[in-house]
Amino acid sequence: MNPKPTCILTVVGARPQFIKAAAVARALEPAIAEKRVRHVLVHTGQHYDQNMSELFFEQLDIPRADINLGIGGGGHGRMTGAMLEQLEPLIEQHRPDWVLTYGDTNSTLAAGLAAAKLHRPVAHVEAGLRSFNRRMPEEINRVLVDHLSDRLFCPTTAAVDNLSQEGIREGVHLVGDVMYDVALFYRDRAASRSLRARFGLEVGGYFLSTCHRAENTDDPSRLRGIFAGLALAAREAPVVLPLHPRTRARMAEFGVKPDPGVHLIEPVGYLEMLDLEAHARAILTDSGGIQKEAYFYGVPCITLRTETEWVETVSAGWNTLVDAHPERIAEAIECTSETRHRPRPELYGCGDAARRIVDLLLEGKE
Ligand code: UD1
Ligand code: UDP
Repeated sequence: MNPKPTCILTVVGARPQFIKAAAVARALEPAIAEKRVRHVLVHTGQHYDQNMSELFFEQLDIPRADINLGIGGGGHGRMTGAMLEQLEPLIEQHRPDWVLTYGDTNSTLAAGLAAAKLHRPVAHVEAGLRSFNRRMPEEINRVLVDHLSDRLFCPTTAAVDNLSQEGIREGVHLVGDVMYDVALFYRDRAASRSLRARFGLEVGGYFLSTCHRAENTDDPSRLRGIFAGLALAAREAPVVLPLHPRTRARMAEFGVKPDPGVHLIEPVGYLEMLDLEAHARAILTDSGGIQKEAYFYGVPCITLRTETEWVETVSAGWNTLVDAHPERIAEAIECTSETRHRPRPELYGCGDAARRIVDLLLEGKE
């Protein structure tokens, strides 16, 4: 056995990455305790508000980041450039066996690019996802990182197929979805953090919504279309919307005012969110992660986009793509009672994705 522990340098920066990293950090614990792994956790600082960052570390028992680069806000170039500049010396210092990164944010891209140029192996969790819409910054990030990665951990068979189409077949592993691992682990704990009583929400008697994609928030006509659709939803039942800071800023800039039946609240913790999701009549969202969580809980999802990376939720009949179109939002709401009768096959593995990722990372390294 190699006496030197395997060094894994994880880079995270945004809310969904903390959630994904929580699963893998937990699966790494035994190997860290046995000194087979040295784990360096780097937070780029991309998300920095307490309720967009620290809260997730607390709720999900994620070890405190070893380093926080404090790079939040600003345009893509400035943010990604600053991350690259600060990640390079760290990677040189630690010479990790793996630089581990998640999803499709600017932090993901910076991690992949910095590591690959320093000849350190890159492992990408949530590899192979595609929207085929290059106007999304996330699509650029994920395509580039996949092409830089040595190990590609795919959550779905569609993701494996997408990589194959691009000629990436080496180092590809279908492991399932780490977000499913986390949702299973915290499902029971979520009830104790319920916000439903505080907001007077009945089980199945409200809609939950989120909206933060640049393509929606930064285009005033799309943002207005979404809020017009949410106003139609509010005729049926109250809409609760934990508001991403990006969306709050754009609503103020464009003068978009919510209908009185649409209740804007601050971003909530993961446990509070799971509880709101699980008991909603339907979820209206442009989030990637929330489309899947709706499926995990058997709650119909209405996606405020023209395409999705999570195509299997649509094929299974649990997710409807409605764009930013008010009437299509209202029509999709009409159909949600039928959705609940559909079968819900296991599309995202069986909750052991993180353990499989850790096993694959350590294979051949010790
Ligand atoms: C980022 C990701 C997106 C992911 C989302 C998860 C990229 C290109 N996009 O989008 O893939 O779905 O995170 O939520 O990386 N802000 C705050 N406080 C914070 C965080 C952000 O005020 O804690 C504001 C800042 O003004 C910032 C803006 O929100 O400029 C946008 O944040 P940014 O991290 O650039 O992108 P997101 O929209 O959060
Ligand atoms: N989430 C949360 N609180 C909120 C909104 C979202 O805990 O107020 C969680 C949500 O349950 C999911 C993840 O954040 O697990 C999704 O992150 P987000 O929608 O920001 O990003 P995306 O998945 O679209 O990249």
